[in-house]
Amino acid sequence: MTDPSVCSTAAEMVSLSRSWIAEGHTIAVVPTMGALHEGHVALILEAHQRADRVVVTVFVNPTQFDRPTDLDTYPRDLAADLATCAAEGVHAVFAPSVTEVYPEGAVTTVDPGPIAEHLEGEHRPGHFSGVATVVLRLFEIVSPQVAMFGEKDAQQLAVVRSVCEGNGVDIVGVTTVREPDGLARSSRNVHLDPASRQAATALPSALRSVSDAWASGQRAADELRTLGREIIERAGGEVDYLDLVDAATFQPSNPPQRGDLIVAAAWFGGVRLIDNLRLDP
Ligand code: PAJ
Repeated sequence: MTDPSVCSTAAEMVSLSRSWIAEGHTIAVVPTMGALHEGHVALILEAHQRADRVVVTVFVNPTQFDRPTDLDTYPRDLAADLATCAAEGVHAVFAPSVTEVYPEGAVTTVDPGPIAEHLEGEHRPGHFSGVATVVLRLFEIVSPQVAMFGEKDAQQLAVVRSVCEGNGVDIVGVTTVREPDGLARSSRNVHLDPASRQAATALPSALRSVSDAWASGQRAADELRTLGREIIERAGGEVDYLDLVDAATFQPSNPPQRGDLIVAAAWFGGVRLIDNLRLDP
């Protein structure tokens, strides 16, 4: 187990990447906000398959948070993250300060357009502009050939694919890693009290029930939406949205077709969770 190089300034990361590229290495990047869990590890494992140098970025990006308390309470533990990265053979961790990523006056912000307007975009104003801006900034610093993103954040993956179209970075989506009871792994799960943690399993159950109903022939989007919402609400969850959308454009799909996504966001005990499932039986 070799410790990763830790870069805390953009200049250090740029220089390390340049030296690797000069030596003929390929670079895969795994952008994260830290508090690393099995979901992030799946991205790191995939990154090793795609390039011979793996960089994990750990940066809690303030521009993508729409609620100040969410930013303030976001879990942070760089020492634990470095230990995870060392155990997973990561070559470098880029863990910059806010001013390294956003030097005053020097960063262009990105508007991802219509793909970012619905669902998460509607409920979290400015969120995807923050995500797109930081991802492009991280790519500029790390110079990767390939970047890993989780399918758990499906709209984020679609937004990143859209804003990176033609910029030479290959965007790879990785299957959602779940707890044994179906709940998608998330850094925010640590905020769930035991009762809410239990109730939160209604989120993946609702997605599964909608998928099963679709597989049994139900094609009315409003019926499918109601079915899913009721399962979450019966468990005490509060639904922000539950919808069926085209996986690439995130526009509503009616009638829903194979390959579309059931996407949902819901609150359990003050914690907002998102999840999705593809229609493909
Ligand atoms: P974060 O929530 O830390 O997630 C980092 C990456 O891990 C994202 O691509 C996310 O989709 C993926 N991920 C999270 N949970 C997962 C799971 N259970 N299974 C598979 N992949 C999972 O997403 C962000 O950070 C930020 O928005 C970021 C892209 C880093 C930009 O700031």
